[in-house]
Amino acid sequence: MELRNYRDADEDALADLWQRCDLMRNPLNDAHKDIAFCLSGGHGEILILEDEGEIVASAMLGQDGHRGWIYYVAVDPARQGQDLGRRIMAAAEARLQASGVPKVQLLVRGSNTQVVGFYQRLGYMMDPANLMSRRLDGNPLPIGHQMNDEPVIVTYLEMLERGSLPHIVPKTRNHALIGAHDITVGFYRYLYDAVGRPWYWTDRKKLSDAELATIIQDEAVETYVLYVGGVPAGFYELDFRTMPTAELAYFGIMPEFIGMGLGPYLLGQALDMLWHKEPARVLVNTCTLDHPKALPLYQRFGFRPYDQQKVPAPWQDVNNVLDFA
Ligand SMILES: CC(C)(COP(=O)(O)OP(=O)(O)OC[C@H]1O[C@@H](n2cnc3c(N)ncnc32)[C@H](O)[C@@H]1OP(=O)(O)O)[C@@H](O)C(=O)NCCC(=O)NCCS
Repeated sequence: MELRNYRDADEDALADLWQRCDLMRNPLNDAHKDIAFCLSGGHGEILILEDEGEIVASAMLGQDGHRGWIYYVAVDPARQGQDLGRRIMAAAEARLQASGVPKVQLLVRGSNTQVVGFYQRLGYMMDPANLMSRRLDGNPLPIGHQMNDEPVIVTYLEMLERGSLPHIVPKTRNHALIGAHDITVGFYRYLYDAVGRPWYWTDRKKLSDAELATIIQDEAVETYVLYVGGVPAGFYELDFRTMPTAELAYFGIMPEFIGMGLGPYLLGQALDMLWHKEPARVLVNTCTLDHPKALPLYQRFGFRPYDQQKVPAPWQDVNNVLDFA
């Protein structure tokens, strides 16, 4: 295995590696242009790990006169889990250290939650800083999986009678659903961010601690937390403040627990509790930024859409909380 600098002949293979590693989601990033720009000004370099003529890993690095940065860390999907990520990162760090920068930084896309564990394993920590950015090329800022400027469509759904709710038993045996009475603001903010971050939930982040406490600690608002193996895995919030209309205000599973069949179970429990208080109407809403299965799931449980509205995407709202880079 050879560690070396990028050569012109690598261009197509490197672009292909980044594509296969799902690093090219942002349509404003063009691999060929990014490679050329990195190497054009003497401010950056690209490291390659090559094995038997194949590029198996890459890292782009550079220093901006103050800090070191690492981009495009990628390991061939067929070769992941073999320490190549660690090796290419160690090589990139060594180069930056040699250049004299005291700190190395990197950006992890908000939706790339899996990779955070890799960097943590290498000693990286989340900085308590908000990344703010502004494009200088006139392009709109595309973030996350909605890569265009289209407005978000919110679908409002209602249920007017209990109906027969499907009985769902989750596959996990070690789960528990516990009401969080007098929930603290800190715990609530953790739940909201852990569930909502991939889906750009921002409404509650705009509230001060006092404003948030007024809502979540209201006697007519109830939060239930799903634990799997003692670890928070999801939550829902029921709002009875406008009875006889009740609302499933928030509902979701944390990314690490998606795909385990917990969503239908949790929704069934939430609806059971909502109807237990005998409301005349139960509301929920979902938008095109939510998990694509959310809307069909609500409909499967008996919700019917009664309205739709277009709203600006969270990143188009200048007053928004800018923490989903
Ligand atoms: C992230 C990536 C570079 C990791 O490379 P890799 O070769 O699979 O990782 P390594 O085998 O070197 O793993 C090093 C350590 O991190 C751990 N690790 C790797 N991926 C992990 C993950 N997703 N979550 C938690 N730990 C992880 C490994 O278990 C290993 O731990 P150890 O100290 O117990 O041995 C690779 O998965 C990748 O290319 N992903 C797609 C592209 C991407 O997301 N890049 C990052 C952009 S910010």
